[in-house]
Order: sequence, then C-alpha cells, then structure tokens
Amino acid sequence: MPLVSSLMPSAARPVNVLEYERLAEEALEAGALGYFAGGACDERTLRENVAAFGRLRLRPRMLVDVSKVSAATTVLGSAVSMPLLVAPTAIQKMCHPGGEAATARAAAALGTVMTLSTIATATPAEVAEAAPGGTRWFQLYCFEDDGVTRALVEQAVEHDYSAIVLTVDAPRAGRRERDLRTGFQVPAEITIPSVAAALGQPATLTIAEVFAMLDLTLTWRDLERIRGLSDLPLLVKGVMTEEDARLACEAGVDGIVVSNHGGRQLDGVAATIEALPEVVDAVEGRVEVFVDGGIRRGTDVVKALALGARAAMVGRPVLWGLATAGEDGVRHVLELLRDELELALLLCGCPTPADVTSAHVSANSGGS
Ligand SMILES: Cc1cc2nc3c(=O)[nH]c(=O)nc-3n(C[C@H](O)[C@H](O)[C@H](O)COP(=O)(O)O)c2cc1C
Repeated sequence: MPLVSSLMPSAARPVNVLEYERLAEEALEAGALGYFAGGACDERTLRENVAAFGRLRLRPRMLVDVSKVSAATTVLGSAVSMPLLVAPTAIQKMCHPGGEAATARAAAALGTVMTLSTIATATPAEVAEAAPGGTRWFQLYCFEDDGVTRALVEQAVEHDYSAIVLTVDAPRAGRRERDLRTGFQVPAEITIPSVAAALGQPATLTIAEVFAMLDLTLTWRDLERIRGLSDLPLLVKGVMTEEDARLACEAGVDGIVVSNHGGRQLDGVAATIEALPEVVDAVEGRVEVFVDGGIRRGTDVVKALALGARAAMVGRPVLWGLATAGEDGVRHVLELLRDELELALLLCGCPTPADVTSAHVSANSGGS
C-alpha cells in the first residue's frame, strides 16, 4: 500500500521534497535507504551540496509584468516544461517495483527529460515503451570491453533516446560507509538487464560486477571515439573544474553536467553550485551547462539558472517520490518543484527562465 496516493485529500499529501524524504525513510528498509541516501566517507560533500544553496541569496526585481509566467525552456534544442530534469539513478526497482518505467512515465507527464542509468533495473526498450512520448537521455558508463559500451549506445539509439550522458566521475564506486555499516548487498532479484544484454548474458549482474568491468584507462582522448558511437549529442557528467570544462569543450561535447554524483564519489569536493560558475566561465557559451546535487526547492533551480546553468537535475528527490508512492510520488515531487519554480520566477520578476541573470543572486558570507 503506497504511503501517499493521488487520491488522498491534498491536505494529507506531502507539501515539499523534504516531507517526501521523511516518508521515504519510513518506506525503505535500512540497507536500501543507506544506499539511496548515503554519500562517500564523512558525507561532507553530500551535506555541502544542500548547504551551499542556503548560502546564496536571491535578488528579486519588483514591478516587472509577471501576469504570464512560464518555466518552459529548451535543453539541447528539445522543448521541456521546465529547466529541471531527472538525473540518472541506479537500481530504481529496489526503491519501488515500478522502477525506472514509473519514473519515465512521471517525467513524461511533466514534460521533462528522464535520464536512464546504465545501472538500471529496466532496459532502455522497457523504459521507452513505458513512456513513448517522453524525452529520454541515456547515461553511459564506459566498459573495458568496448563491445559492451557500443551495445549500450546501440540500445539507446534504437529506442529513441535523444542524448548520451557519459558519467566521468565514477571509474570506481566511492567509499559509501553507510553501506559498509549496514552490510548492504543489492538483493539477488535486482538485476541490470541492459548490461547483461550487452554482454550477451542472462540478466544476473550485480552493481559490484558492473563497476568491476568499467574502463579505468579512459581519458579525454577517448571522447572522440565515444562521440563516434552514435549521432546523438554527447554530454559529460561529473565535471567540477574549469580545466576539465575546457577539455570537454575541446573534445567537442555538446553539454556538461556539473556534478559530484550527489556526494557519493570523492568526499571533500566542492558543492556543485559552488563549482558551477567556474565551469560556466570556462565554457564561454560554447555548450549548455547543467548542474545537479542538492536541489530540493524551486528556488534552488532559480539560483542555478542565475549562475549560468541551462537547467538543473534532481536525483534523490525523484527517489523519495518513487519510494513513497511509485509513479504518483515521482509525478507529485516534480509537480511540487515545478510549482515552486514558477512561483519563484514570478516573485523574482522573471517571467521566463531566460529572464534570470547573474544579478538575481548574491552570495551571503554570513552563513546559511
Ligand atoms: C542512489 C543513487 C544512484 C545513482 N546512480 C547513478 C548512476 O547510475 N549514474 C550516474 O551517472 N549518476 C548516478 N547518481 C548520481 C545522480 O545522477 C546525481 O548526480 C545526484 O543524485 C544528484 O544529487 P541529488 O541526489 O542531491 O539530487 C546516483 C545518485 C544516487 C543518489
């Protein structure tokens, strides 16, 4: 029985992402919760991702005509209802039996992009079939066996995914101490069918087995080859420095996602919203820049836009909706964020995302 249903009276439904997080904590068993919620080592970066948004202040402008406000925009040339997209997160069937198909349907209902993880519990084909009208991106990990990487990209192309998002910050999984404490193991019934299919095996791979097959030799020089695997636009996800932003542009990528993997990889790196400006400066408008990590409010999205992001992405908020109420929960989380975002745009005097400028945000040195 889902904790929340769209049939519930609205007063009984959560009113924000934080409340969904609390409900998800009740819905998930300890090992799964630690996996979804946790970060690396001391979780400094995990906390900072959220805290850094609290140190930014909005600078709203008054007496602007806000009789018509719309969050609609485009990303890589595709129309979306809002500059907030769904980030790739692994093994969603451990969160809720509906898994990635439920997330895809919810994202499509909201008119935004769903990014499917390589480490998904549904194939690119199943997710495409679940939400045929939706815009989907495919998140790619590169495997030592080039044939596997190639087969994954082929699955994405065949099923009308419209971009490849190459994650570059996870050649190995970070040290997730919550998982060590709970002794977390992915349950045997949770399998990664797309990788298994790419390997020509039955669907019985664990996450650890998948990570053990990733290509640790990958460098910027390989991007041309990866770009050549399909005609789809290529984004790199996990860039945190101006140096790498420049290399990404030189390698001909179509977009950059400023991300620290939700604080799950290298603890001690900056909050993503703090890394965003240096990446935006280095890119000099050559490609679209996205950011994820710690976005929990519509106002956070406005801050990301003000600092130069084309759009923001959310990982855990979607998982909290999914764990609480499956597809309905994800849809409601995305609706809440969209409504908050539209109101924030209105109150900032920005009728559209394109009206948000760097003058709409300032740093508050006095803490959060
Ligand atoms: C449980 C979990 C699994 C994730 N799995 C992947 C993945 O398979 N591939 C990937 O590129 N990023 C993965 N990420 C990182 C997200 O794409 C995203 O960068 C991060 O969740 C953003 O931070 P947020 O959770 O604070 O929104 C995962 C994140 C979480 C929380």
